[in-house]
Amino acid sequence: MSGCVQRNHEHPRISSTPATTFLGQMAASSDMTDVLSGRATGETDIDAFLQRHSPTVVDRGPGSVSRLGKWARDLGGTRLFLVTDRGLRDAGHEQRVVAFLSEAGFGVEDIAVFDDVTPNPTTNDVDRALAVAADHAADLIIGLGGGSSMDCAKGVNFLLTNGGRIEDYWGIGKASRDMLPMIAVPTTAGTGSEAQSFALIANAETHMKMACGDKKAACRVAILDPELTMTMPAAVTAATGIDAISHAVETAVTTRRTDVSSRFSREAWFRLAEGFRRVTSDPGDLEARELMLFGAHLAGAAIEHSMLGATHALANPLSAHYGMTHGVAIGIMLPHVIRFNADEALSTYAEFAESAGERLEEGDSGAERLAKMVEQMVSDAGLPSTLAECDIQSDLLDTLAAEAAEQWTGQFNPRSVSKDLLKGLYECASPRSH
Ligand SMILES: [Fe+2]
Repeated sequence: MSGCVQRNHEHPRISSTPATTFLGQMAASSDMTDVLSGRATGETDIDAFLQRHSPTVVDRGPGSVSRLGKWARDLGGTRLFLVTDRGLRDAGHEQRVVAFLSEAGFGVEDIAVFDDVTPNPTTNDVDRALAVAADHAADLIIGLGGGSSMDCAKGVNFLLTNGGRIEDYWGIGKASRDMLPMIAVPTTAGTGSEAQSFALIANAETHMKMACGDKKAACRVAILDPELTMTMPAAVTAATGIDAISHAVETAVTTRRTDVSSRFSREAWFRLAEGFRRVTSDPGDLEARELMLFGAHLAGAAIEHSMLGATHALANPLSAHYGMTHGVAIGIMLPHVIRFNADEALSTYAEFAESAGERLEEGDSGAERLAKMVEQMVSDAGLPSTLAECDIQSDLLDTLAAEAAEQWTGQFNPRSVSKDLLKGLYECASPRSH
């Protein structure tokens, strides 16, 4: 492990125990139905806490998407614009959602659909969707899908209401006029985009991702219906799930973290740790899907307050230049960043490992145990664990590290990062260190 930026310290060891998980413990003392429905102690609190600290109203639970039309009416929508992708059309979700809108009294002429969003949407996607929305004179936007559909929908909202180009909104608070009300209906448990006021849109030519943030872009309502996530292929469940887990882990320790974001991070973590392990072994586990979807939302809310860290700084160049799926890149890099941050984040990492059923004993530090937990999750989900498996060659690491060092998100990592340190982390994930 000569290339790894790793630290070993004398800390209480945490060892694996037969998985008595946090929710397993809760279920032993309370009805699991109460836990998931929000009646159990703590869950009700987090719902109230979420509504106090987020501009987005959450309607969640199996079947909640049937209330989409009611929410559109409550928000004053008369000319609806639905943004989604072909995969969701082919899976029948688009038609189902349109049917629910019809049941609420919206006619065919009241609904315009753009269902051609591509993964990692570019300014080209936004421009094509904008033409449909403008032609329809839309007054309410619905984003149905993963982060790509929701980001594209937000991008359309910026341009439809404030004019100009996406580049004009790169940064924070660049929109001067009010924006249209938006409802998000996530169909993956990953980005938590529905909890954020940022749209991530790539420049169509350079593929540089632009983060466009404005409080006015926040969704008014998020509908978290776990039944919509049941059709995800296993690989998508795995990659998006690891991404959500990284959001909980990274937001918990950034230099920007607050009391509010820390609670979101913790509430997200124990749901995701439990849900991910269950859904990996049983994709039809609806309760686990519900844990994942709400956990991903809470982690997204944490990002809104806390930003992210070095894992995302390292993952973004891998996706931008080599087309690596975001969650795959995240799954490879996160364990190494956890070890790298050990000194600065030890107590939080130990708490996370323990709350997910890992018992503290002599030996490994909390950081080491948490890193191993994530490695196990990545492995169990069938995701690659090294850059070599993704054909990223060692001679490219200098270029990648230089670009990772330019990533805005890296500055919030609890331990300062430089190009050399980031290169060391890539080396940890490269074949030479294994
Ligand atoms: Fe992410």
